[in-house]
Amino acid sequence: MNTQATVSAQPNLALVKYWGKKNRGINVPATSSIGLTLNGIETRTTLTLMDRGTGGPRIKVNGTELQDSRFEVFFRQAEKLFSPRLRQTGISFSDIIEKLAVDSTNNFPTAAGLASSSSGLGALAFGLDALLETRLERSALSALARSGSGSAARTLYGGFVEFREGSTRARQLAGNDHWPEFRVVVFTVSAQAKKTSSRAGMNAIKKSSPFFPAWVRNSRSLYKEMRSAVLDRDIEKTGTIARLSYLRMFATMFAANPPLVYWQPESIEIIHALEDLRSQGIAVWETMDAGPQVKALCEEKDLAAVLAAFHNRESRPIILSAGKGPEVIETWK
Ligand code: PMV
Repeated sequence: MNTQATVSAQPNLALVKYWGKKNRGINVPATSSIGLTLNGIETRTTLTLMDRGTGGPRIKVNGTELQDSRFEVFFRQAEKLFSPRLRQTGISFSDIIEKLAVDSTNNFPTAAGLASSSSGLGALAFGLDALLETRLERSALSALARSGSGSAARTLYGGFVEFREGSTRARQLAGNDHWPEFRVVVFTVSAQAKKTSSRAGMNAIKKSSPFFPAWVRNSRSLYKEMRSAVLDRDIEKTGTIARLSYLRMFATMFAANPPLVYWQPESIEIIHALEDLRSQGIAVWETMDAGPQVKALCEEKDLAAVLAAFHNRESRPIILSAGKGPEVIETWK
């Protein structure tokens, strides 16, 4: 067992969305999603076993101590997963938790619709395994990460990752070298944390949006089409379906009571600007998550044209491609 482990994990951006939970299990998705684990932006998490109890786990995100019910659920599941592996060591998981200090930093805005919860919980699951030297399978860590955040199940793998409706863990669809030309251009519209978390948003729309059952039904065909579009590296099909998926997801929110609106005026301006680019023959589409950020999807050959169209924006877009997935940075005995 190590006394300290530092790991990195990258957010996984959904091309077809997980939005809504089944009534059983923790964060079991009502819709199948396919996402891309990104490179270039990351969560870096250091887990330390302190000499004395911290009353832990003590968790800091970007320097601020956080109490969040999702961590309680996560650590209850972690106990079930790791306890059998710790038997030979004579140390109980609750002793470890008592002494655990977690320090996590994101090099991108947190809780603003950039999937920071996916990389944060993914890093925590992967980091615990590195700290305890348990060498669990990725799929077990994916299931653990899911208990903190559904999309985090996808961050345990690099490249294109799918997370099927009703499933408890994600699996890799294609590695990070599958589509090297694929680019994601992130336009940060607001770096402020959102008022309604994805979790709260999903629960609210499931209860009150008349469109929710139709969304779940329709997502099945979007998932199938996206799967083949990604495997065929077909940018036009991938972009078109990604667009349908996020707009239909937002339709469930607009129809809820009370309605949920994550968009800002600038989000819509960017959507229209991308539409103009498409009408000029530039192969670019977009997606959005539970926040105002717009993420353009294109290939390297069209990147310059996309960036040129937005050269007047104050905040610089972030250009990303497919990443390798979580990594151990260093460990200490
Ligand atoms: O994993 P959560 O609870 O943060 O929910 C993620 C929801 C979306 O980002 C909107 C979609 C997705 O599949 O990542």
